[in-house]
Amino acid sequence: MKILFYDSKPYDETSFNKALEEYPGLEIEYLEADLNKHTAKLAEGYDAVCAFVSSDISEPVLDRLAERGVRLVLLRCAGFNNVDRETAKKRGITVMRVPGYSPEAIAEHAMALALAVNRKIHKAYIKVRENNFALTGLTGVNFHGKTAGIVGTGKIGAAMCRICRGFGMNVIAFDKYQNPDLDFVTYVDLDTIFAESDLISLHCPLTEDTYHLINSESIEKIRKCPILINTARGGMIDSDALIRGIRDLKFFGVGLDVYEEEDENVFENREDEILQHSIVSRLLSFPNVIVTSHQAFFTEEALQAISRTTLENALGFENGTVNEANKVC
Ligand code: NAI
Repeated sequence: MKILFYDSKPYDETSFNKALEEYPGLEIEYLEADLNKHTAKLAEGYDAVCAFVSSDISEPVLDRLAERGVRLVLLRCAGFNNVDRETAKKRGITVMRVPGYSPEAIAEHAMALALAVNRKIHKAYIKVRENNFALTGLTGVNFHGKTAGIVGTGKIGAAMCRICRGFGMNVIAFDKYQNPDLDFVTYVDLDTIFAESDLISLHCPLTEDTYHLINSESIEKIRKCPILINTARGGMIDSDALIRGIRDLKFFGVGLDVYEEEDENVFENREDEILQHSIVSRLLSFPNVIVTSHQAFFTEEALQAISRTTLENALGFENGTVNEANKVC
């Protein structure tokens, strides 16, 4: 099977080339360009394409891939909100993903953002380097004894619940389905999450239901000046409403690994460019906001698991033993 690998970075090549040693019969060509309607034509002669979180897997792209005989899209990520599933089905293209490759990697990053923004590590780091050892402006709060409100208690949300419990926090959660493994968690409705939480962390997929889950109305319901963390998907927070909320002092801190309009930025070095969107700049103008670039997944263990499962997905497709749990459509 020949796989065209879009949006490739050096660390992708390293982990996939290592994994390839265990999966003979698969061939990968790496391409720096991401998948979109212009680059889809490069897939001529390939059986499968490998795509990532910012790849465009919409109707025109799937049409072009199908015309070139591509029958498999291998997502090397968990989320699949960028896939037009109806069109993929119509064009006979199977889409596979890597669910739950390392839930702890993402949950640990969510807690890292929460701790950093709480204890102002981003400011302290700069201050001390400038020989400024004053503490003014660096006051944080204890997490111990506070309430963590977790939205979405699947694999990553459950890991975050366990981490928060380890910090001695009272853990409440909202999900459409209760996770039976989390007997220490109290399930509540969303309004209670907004009203009662000192830390709110988002861990559900981006769907029609969760789009702009954090909006002006939900921010109105916030009572305790919480820290808000989003490592799920940018579209879950209405950025303009968030910016208004930060200005209205509704949040003690905000940590975002994902944000709206991140697609052109993710994993790119754009330091010499004039950015055309202002969401990041406006967010970064606030001292209590930390933004990272969709890196919550980025650990050695996660990269290894991603490359292995992606190649297993490819082999399963080839051998007619598709792993249904990893199949998007
Ligand atoms: P999962 O499928 O194990 O869990 C998702 C949970 O969300 C489920 O319990 C589900 O019932 C719940 N849910 C779905 N719709 C809901 C709704 N409307 N309201 C409340 N809960 C709802 O998924 P997992 O592995 O925990 O991943 C969660 C999300 O994290 C992914 O969809 C992806 O968007 C994001 N992610 C981010 C990464 C990063 O690097 N920043 C890396 C991996 C995933």
